[in-house]
Amino acid sequence: MLTFEDNIKPAAMPLGVGRATAGGASADWDVAQAEQAPTARVRVEDKAIINSRADVNQLVPFKYKWAWEKYLAACANHWMPQEVNMTADIALWKSDRLSEDERRLVKRNLGFFTTADSLAANNIVLGTYRHISNPECRQFLLRQAFEEAIHTHAYQYIVESLGLDEGEVFNAYHEVASIRAKDEFLIPFIETLTDPAFKTGTPEADQKLLRSLIVFACIMEGLFFYVGFVQILALGRQNKMTGAAEQYQYILRDESMHLNFGVDVINQIKMENPHLWTPEFRNEIRGLFLKAVELEYAYAEDTMPRGVLGLNAGMFKEYLRFIANRRCQQIGIDVLYPGATNPFPWMAEMIDLKKEKNFFETRVTEYQSGGALSWD
Ligand SMILES: [Fe+2]
Ligand SMILES: [Fe+2]
Repeated sequence: MLTFEDNIKPAAMPLGVGRATAGGASADWDVAQAEQAPTARVRVEDKAIINSRADVNQLVPFKYKWAWEKYLAACANHWMPQEVNMTADIALWKSDRLSEDERRLVKRNLGFFTTADSLAANNIVLGTYRHISNPECRQFLLRQAFEEAIHTHAYQYIVESLGLDEGEVFNAYHEVASIRAKDEFLIPFIETLTDPAFKTGTPEADQKLLRSLIVFACIMEGLFFYVGFVQILALGRQNKMTGAAEQYQYILRDESMHLNFGVDVINQIKMENPHLWTPEFRNEIRGLFLKAVELEYAYAEDTMPRGVLGLNAGMFKEYLRFIANRRCQQIGIDVLYPGATNPFPWMAEMIDLKKEKNFFETRVTEYQSGGALSWD
Protein backbone atom coordinates (compact mmCIF):
# COMPACT_ATOMS: atom_id res chain seq x y z
CA MET A 1 0.00 0.00 0.00
CA LEU A 2 1.21 3.50 -0.77
CA THR A 3 1.73 5.75 2.19
CA PHE A 4 1.63 9.49 2.61
CA GLU A 5 5.33 9.16 3.34
CA ASP A 6 5.85 7.88 -0.21
CA ASN A 7 4.07 10.85 -1.60
CA ILE A 8 6.11 13.53 0.10
CA LYS A 9 9.43 11.82 -0.42
CA PRO A 10 10.03 11.71 -4.16
CA ALA A 11 13.37 9.99 -3.46
CA ALA A 12 11.35 6.88 -2.67
CA MET A 13 9.46 7.48 -5.90
CA PRO A 14 11.91 8.70 -8.56
CA LEU A 15 9.32 10.04 -10.99
CA GLY A 16 8.00 12.42 -8.36
CA VAL A 17 4.38 11.97 -9.39
CA GLY A 18 1.83 12.64 -6.64
CA ARG A 19 0.01 9.38 -6.11
CA ALA A 20 -1.57 9.36 -2.65
CA THR A 21 -5.05 9.64 -4.08
CA ALA A 22 -4.49 7.70 -7.29
CA GLY A 23 -6.67 4.66 -7.81
CA GLY A 24 -8.17 4.87 -4.32
CA ALA A 25 -4.78 4.14 -2.75
CA SER A 26 -5.53 6.52 0.12
CA ALA A 27 -9.05 5.21 0.79
CA ASP A 28 -8.07 3.69 4.13
CA TRP A 29 -6.44 6.87 5.40
CA ASP A 30 -8.10 8.90 8.10
CA VAL A 31 -7.39 12.21 9.85
CA ALA A 32 -5.77 10.55 12.84
CA GLN A 33 -3.24 8.82 10.64
CA ALA A 34 -2.64 12.03 8.65
CA GLU A 35 -1.82 13.83 11.90
CA GLN A 36 1.03 11.36 12.48
CA ALA A 37 2.58 11.93 9.02
CA PRO A 38 5.74 14.05 8.62
CA THR A 39 5.01 17.69 7.79
CA ALA A 40 8.46 19.17 7.09
CA ARG A 41 8.30 22.21 4.81
CA VAL A 42 10.32 22.45 1.60
CA ARG A 43 13.85 23.81 2.07
CA VAL A 44 15.72 25.35 -0.88
CA GLU A 45 18.78 23.26 -0.10
CA ASP A 46 16.78 20.04 -0.60
CA LYS A 47 15.80 20.99 -4.14
CA ALA A 48 17.75 19.48 -7.04
CA ILE A 49 17.25 19.12 -10.78
CA ILE A 50 17.34 15.31 -10.63
CA ASN A 51 16.78 12.82 -7.82
CA SER A 52 15.43 15.54 -5.52
CA ARG A 53 14.09 14.68 -2.06
CA ALA A 54 11.93 17.82 -1.90
CA ASP A 55 8.18 17.72 -2.57
CA VAL A 56 7.74 18.39 -6.31
CA ASN A 57 4.21 19.68 -5.75
CA GLN A 58 5.45 22.85 -4.02
CA LEU A 59 6.70 25.41 -6.54
CA VAL A 60 8.23 27.74 -3.96
CA PRO A 61 10.66 28.54 -2.41
CA PHE A 62 12.47 28.93 -5.74
CA LYS A 63 15.94 27.54 -6.13
CA TYR A 64 16.45 28.02 -9.88
CA LYS A 65 15.31 31.57 -10.65
CA TRP A 66 16.58 31.22 -14.22
CA ALA A 67 13.98 28.51 -14.85
CA TRP A 68 11.14 30.64 -13.51
CA GLU A 69 12.34 33.68 -15.49
CA LYS A 70 12.49 31.65 -18.69
CA TYR A 71 8.97 30.38 -18.02
CA LEU A 72 7.74 34.01 -17.69
CA ALA A 73 9.63 35.09 -20.83
CA ALA A 74 8.22 32.17 -22.82
CA CYS A 75 4.67 33.07 -21.76
CA ALA A 76 5.26 36.71 -22.76
CA ASN A 77 6.26 35.51 -26.26
CA HIS A 78 2.94 33.75 -26.80
CA TRP A 79 1.68 33.63 -30.40
CA MET A 80 -0.73 31.56 -32.47
CA PRO A 81 -0.26 30.48 -36.11
CA GLN A 82 -3.68 31.54 -37.39
CA GLU A 83 -2.91 35.17 -36.51
CA VAL A 84 -0.40 35.22 -39.36
CA ASN A 85 -1.76 36.14 -42.78
CA MET A 86 -0.90 33.55 -45.43
CA THR A 87 -2.51 35.32 -48.42
CA ALA A 88 0.75 36.37 -50.07
CA ASP A 89 2.26 32.89 -49.61
CA ILE A 90 -0.78 31.23 -51.17
CA ALA A 91 -0.68 33.58 -54.19
CA LEU A 92 3.05 33.02 -54.65
CA TRP A 93 2.72 29.22 -54.34
CA LYS A 94 -0.02 29.21 -57.03
CA SER A 95 2.04 31.45 -59.36
CA ASP A 96 5.00 30.52 -61.55
CA ARG A 97 7.34 32.80 -59.59
CA LEU A 98 8.89 30.01 -57.52
CA SER A 99 11.50 27.71 -59.04
CA GLU A 100 11.31 23.91 -58.75
CA ASP A 101 14.31 24.05 -56.40
CA GLU A 102 12.52 26.54 -54.14
CA ARG A 103 9.43 24.32 -54.06
CA ARG A 104 11.49 21.25 -53.23
CA LEU A 105 13.18 23.19 -50.45
CA VAL A 106 9.85 24.25 -48.90
CA LYS A 107 8.35 20.75 -49.09
CA ARG A 108 11.39 18.95 -47.68
CA ASN A 109 11.71 21.61 -45.00
CA LEU A 110 8.12 21.05 -43.87
CA GLY A 111 8.69 17.31 -44.30
CA PHE A 112 11.20 17.45 -41.47
CA PHE A 113 9.48 19.94 -39.19
CA THR A 114 5.89 18.60 -39.31
CA THR A 115 6.93 15.51 -37.34
CA ALA A 116 10.01 16.89 -35.53
CA ASP A 117 7.95 18.99 -33.14
CA SER A 118 5.67 16.05 -32.35
CA LEU A 119 8.78 14.07 -31.45
CA ALA A 120 9.88 17.03 -29.33
CA ALA A 121 6.54 17.26 -27.53
CA ASN A 122 6.42 13.51 -26.84
CA ASN A 123 9.98 13.61 -25.57
CA ILE A 124 9.07 16.29 -23.04
CA VAL A 125 5.68 15.01 -21.90
CA LEU A 126 6.36 11.26 -21.87
CA GLY A 127 10.07 11.43 -21.05
CA THR A 128 12.00 14.45 -19.76
CA TYR A 129 9.24 15.79 -17.51
CA ARG A 130 9.12 12.63 -15.40
CA HIS A 131 12.83 12.65 -14.67
CA ILE A 132 13.26 16.34 -13.83
CA SER A 133 12.44 16.50 -10.12
CA ASN A 134 12.28 20.27 -9.75
CA PRO A 135 8.96 22.15 -9.93
CA GLU A 136 10.22 25.43 -11.42
CA CYS A 137 11.93 23.49 -14.23
CA ARG A 138 8.76 21.46 -14.70
CA GLN A 139 6.81 24.70 -15.00
CA PHE A 140 9.02 25.68 -17.95
CA LEU A 141 8.67 22.20 -19.48
CA LEU A 142 4.88 22.49 -19.35
CA ARG A 143 5.08 25.78 -21.25
CA GLN A 144 7.60 24.28 -23.67
CA ALA A 145 5.29 21.31 -24.35
CA PHE A 146 2.50 23.71 -25.33
CA GLU A 147 4.89 25.64 -27.59
CA GLU A 148 5.81 22.40 -29.38
CA ALA A 149 2.07 21.90 -30.01
CA ILE A 150 1.90 25.44 -31.43
CA HIS A 151 4.84 24.68 -33.71
CA THR A 152 3.23 21.51 -35.04
CA HIS A 153 0.06 23.57 -35.51
CA ALA A 154 2.07 26.21 -37.45
CA TYR A 155 3.54 23.64 -39.84
CA GLN A 156 0.10 22.08 -40.36
CA TYR A 157 -1.33 25.56 -41.01
CA ILE A 158 1.31 26.26 -43.66
CA VAL A 159 0.76 22.85 -45.31
CA GLU A 160 -3.00 23.42 -45.35
CA SER A 161 -2.73 27.02 -46.58
CA LEU A 162 -0.53 26.05 -49.52
CA GLY A 163 -2.69 23.01 -50.31
CA LEU A 164 0.29 20.63 -50.13
CA ASP A 165 -0.16 16.86 -50.23
CA GLU A 166 -0.51 16.14 -46.48
CA GLY A 167 0.41 12.48 -46.84
CA GLU A 168 3.62 13.36 -48.66
CA VAL A 169 4.69 16.03 -46.16
CA PHE A 170 3.70 14.32 -42.90
CA ASN A 171 5.07 10.94 -43.98
CA ALA A 172 8.35 12.40 -45.25
CA TYR A 173 10.14 11.20 -42.14
CA HIS A 174 9.56 7.68 -43.40
CA GLU A 175 9.94 8.35 -47.11
CA VAL A 176 12.82 10.84 -47.41
CA ALA A 177 16.14 9.25 -46.44
CA SER A 178 17.87 12.47 -45.30
CA ILE A 179 14.99 13.22 -42.90
CA ARG A 180 14.63 9.64 -41.72
CA ALA A 181 18.35 9.44 -40.91
CA LYS A 182 18.09 12.46 -38.58
CA ASP A 183 15.07 11.04 -36.78
CA GLU A 184 16.60 7.58 -36.47
CA PHE A 185 19.59 9.19 -34.82
CA LEU A 186 17.31 10.91 -32.28
CA ILE A 187 14.78 8.20 -31.49
CA PRO A 188 16.96 5.93 -29.28
CA PHE A 189 17.72 8.91 -27.02
CA ILE A 190 14.03 9.81 -26.80
CA GLU A 191 13.10 6.17 -26.12
CA THR A 192 15.54 6.04 -23.23
CA LEU A 193 13.48 8.68 -21.42
CA THR A 194 10.03 7.50 -22.47
CA ASP A 195 10.71 3.87 -21.44
CA PRO A 196 8.34 3.33 -18.45
CA ALA A 197 11.01 1.19 -16.75
CA PHE A 198 13.71 3.89 -16.92
CA LYS A 199 14.47 5.73 -13.70
CA THR A 200 17.32 7.88 -12.52
CA GLY A 201 19.30 7.42 -9.33
CA THR A 202 22.37 5.44 -10.39
CA PRO A 203 25.43 7.01 -12.09
CA GLU A 204 24.74 4.96 -15.20
CA ALA A 205 21.07 5.98 -15.43
CA ASP A 206 21.87 9.61 -14.63
CA GLN A 207 24.43 9.64 -17.46
CA LYS A 208 21.78 8.22 -19.78
CA LEU A 209 19.45 11.04 -18.83
CA LEU A 210 22.17 13.67 -19.27
CA ARG A 211 23.13 12.23 -22.66
CA SER A 212 19.52 12.33 -23.84
CA LEU A 213 19.08 15.90 -22.56
CA ILE A 214 22.18 17.00 -24.48
CA VAL A 215 21.00 15.25 -27.65
CA PHE A 216 17.54 16.77 -27.35
CA ALA A 217 18.49 20.39 -26.52
CA CYS A 218 21.87 20.83 -28.20
CA ILE A 219 21.56 18.53 -31.21
CA MET A 220 17.85 18.29 -32.03
CA GLU A 221 16.65 21.78 -31.08
CA GLY A 222 20.11 23.36 -31.31
CA LEU A 223 21.45 21.93 -34.58
CA PHE A 224 18.94 19.83 -36.55
CA PHE A 225 16.53 22.77 -36.77
CA TYR A 226 19.01 25.25 -38.13
CA VAL A 227 19.36 24.35 -41.82
CA GLY A 228 15.56 24.51 -41.97
CA PHE A 229 15.33 27.83 -40.14
CA VAL A 230 17.96 29.47 -42.38
CA GLN A 231 16.21 28.23 -45.53
CA ILE A 232 12.75 29.62 -44.79
CA LEU A 233 14.07 32.83 -43.25
CA ALA A 234 16.26 33.32 -46.35
CA LEU A 235 13.10 33.03 -48.47
CA GLY A 236 11.46 35.66 -46.26
CA ARG A 237 14.42 38.01 -46.66
CA GLN A 238 13.80 37.84 -50.41
CA ASN A 239 10.16 38.68 -49.84
CA LYS A 240 9.01 35.15 -50.62
CA MET A 241 6.77 33.01 -48.36
CA THR A 242 6.61 35.87 -45.88
CA GLY A 243 3.77 34.39 -43.81
CA ALA A 244 5.62 31.10 -43.39
CA ALA A 245 8.83 33.01 -42.63
CA GLU A 246 7.12 35.09 -39.98
CA GLN A 247 5.94 31.94 -38.23
CA TYR A 248 9.42 30.41 -38.48
CA GLN A 249 10.78 33.55 -36.88
CA TYR A 250 8.49 33.08 -33.87
CA ILE A 251 9.43 29.40 -33.76
CA LEU A 252 13.12 30.25 -33.88
CA ARG A 253 12.64 32.60 -30.94
CA ASP A 254 10.83 29.87 -28.97
CA GLU A 255 13.45 27.28 -29.86
CA SER A 256 16.28 29.57 -28.77
CA MET A 257 14.60 29.72 -25.39
CA HIS A 258 14.19 25.91 -25.31
CA LEU A 259 17.87 25.51 -26.15
CA ASN A 260 18.99 28.01 -23.51
CA PHE A 261 16.80 26.37 -20.88
CA GLY A 262 18.18 22.96 -21.84
CA VAL A 263 21.74 24.27 -21.59
CA ASP A 264 21.04 25.68 -18.11
CA VAL A 265 19.53 22.35 -16.99
CA ILE A 266 22.49 20.40 -18.38
CA ASN A 267 25.04 22.68 -16.71
CA GLN A 268 23.16 22.57 -13.41
CA ILE A 269 23.05 18.75 -13.47
CA LYS A 270 26.79 18.74 -14.17
CA MET A 271 27.39 21.07 -11.23
CA GLU A 272 25.26 19.01 -8.84
CA ASN A 273 26.59 15.65 -10.11
CA PRO A 274 30.22 16.19 -11.19
CA HIS A 275 30.88 12.44 -11.15
CA LEU A 276 28.77 12.10 -14.31
CA TRP A 277 31.00 14.37 -16.40
CA THR A 278 33.83 11.93 -17.06
CA PRO A 279 36.39 12.22 -19.91
CA GLU A 280 34.79 9.15 -21.54
CA PHE A 281 31.35 10.75 -21.37
CA ARG A 282 32.62 14.00 -22.87
CA ASN A 283 34.32 12.09 -25.69
CA GLU A 284 31.12 10.25 -26.42
CA ILE A 285 29.24 13.56 -26.64
CA ARG A 286 31.84 14.90 -29.07
CA GLY A 287 31.27 11.82 -31.22
CA LEU A 288 27.52 12.46 -31.22
CA PHE A 289 28.07 16.04 -32.37
CA LEU A 290 30.33 14.87 -35.23
CA LYS A 291 27.68 12.40 -36.38
CA ALA A 292 24.93 15.03 -36.09
CA VAL A 293 26.83 17.56 -38.22
CA GLU A 294 27.29 14.86 -40.87
CA LEU A 295 23.55 14.04 -40.88
CA GLU A 296 22.46 17.67 -40.97
CA TYR A 297 24.86 18.38 -43.81
CA ALA A 298 23.42 15.45 -45.79
CA TYR A 299 19.98 16.99 -45.22
CA ALA A 300 21.26 20.36 -46.49
CA GLU A 301 22.60 18.72 -49.65
CA ASP A 302 19.38 16.82 -50.22
CA THR A 303 17.16 19.88 -49.80
CA MET A 304 19.45 22.06 -51.96
CA PRO A 305 20.99 19.82 -54.64
CA ARG A 306 21.91 23.01 -56.52
CA GLY A 307 22.42 26.53 -55.20
CA VAL A 308 19.12 28.21 -54.35
CA LEU A 309 18.30 31.66 -52.89
CA GLY A 310 22.00 32.52 -52.83
CA LEU A 311 22.49 29.57 -50.46
CA ASN A 312 24.34 26.38 -51.18
CA ALA A 313 25.17 23.25 -49.22
CA GLY A 314 28.82 24.32 -48.85
CA MET A 315 27.81 27.40 -46.85
CA PHE A 316 25.85 25.12 -44.57
CA LYS A 317 28.89 22.93 -43.94
CA GLU A 318 30.63 25.95 -42.42
CA TYR A 319 27.49 27.10 -40.63
CA LEU A 320 26.90 23.70 -39.01
CA ARG A 321 30.51 23.61 -37.81
CA PHE A 322 30.06 27.08 -36.34
CA ILE A 323 26.81 26.05 -34.62
CA ALA A 324 28.26 22.77 -33.30
CA ASN A 325 31.21 24.69 -31.81
CA ARG A 326 28.81 27.07 -30.13
CA ARG A 327 26.73 24.23 -28.62
CA CYS A 328 29.87 22.50 -27.33
CA GLN A 329 31.04 25.74 -25.71
CA GLN A 330 27.66 26.24 -24.07
CA ILE A 331 27.94 22.94 -22.19
CA GLY A 332 31.68 23.05 -21.58
CA ILE A 333 33.00 20.71 -24.28
CA ASP A 334 36.08 21.56 -26.39
CA VAL A 335 35.13 22.93 -29.81
CA LEU A 336 35.20 20.43 -32.66
CA TYR A 337 36.02 22.72 -35.57
CA PRO A 338 38.41 25.48 -34.44
CA GLY A 339 38.09 28.66 -36.50
CA ALA A 340 34.69 27.92 -38.08
CA THR A 341 32.87 31.16 -38.95
CA ASN A 342 29.21 32.11 -39.40
CA PRO A 343 28.21 32.64 -43.05
CA PHE A 344 24.75 33.82 -41.94
CA PRO A 345 25.32 36.62 -39.41
CA TRP A 346 21.78 37.88 -40.09
CA MET A 347 20.40 34.85 -38.22
CA ALA A 348 21.32 36.50 -34.91
CA GLU A 349 18.93 39.37 -35.69
CA MET A 350 16.19 36.90 -36.52
CA ILE A 351 16.25 35.52 -32.99
CA ASP A 352 15.88 38.94 -31.41
CA LEU A 353 12.53 40.15 -32.71
CA LYS A 354 12.61 43.28 -30.60
CA LYS A 355 15.49 44.70 -32.61
CA GLU A 356 13.98 43.94 -35.99
CA LYS A 357 10.36 44.97 -36.08
CA ASN A 358 8.47 44.41 -39.32
CA PHE A 359 11.43 42.67 -40.86
CA PHE A 360 9.31 41.12 -43.56
CA GLU A 361 7.03 44.17 -43.77
CA THR A 362 4.02 42.03 -43.01
CA ARG A 363 2.69 42.99 -39.61
CA VAL A 364 4.02 43.86 -36.21
CA THR A 365 6.26 40.92 -35.53
CA GLU A 366 6.60 41.51 -31.82
CA TYR A 367 3.78 39.70 -30.10
CA GLN A 368 3.26 40.20 -26.40
CA SER A 369 0.35 38.53 -24.73
CA GLY A 370 -1.83 39.95 -21.98
CA GLY A 371 0.39 38.27 -19.43
CA ALA A 372 3.08 40.86 -20.13
CA LEU A 373 0.88 43.93 -19.85
CA SER A 374 1.07 46.24 -16.87
CA TRP A 375 -2.16 47.28 -15.22
CA ASP A 376 -1.42 50.82 -14.11
FE1 LIG B 1 9.38 23.35 -31.53
FE1 LIG C 1 11.58 23.06 -28.87
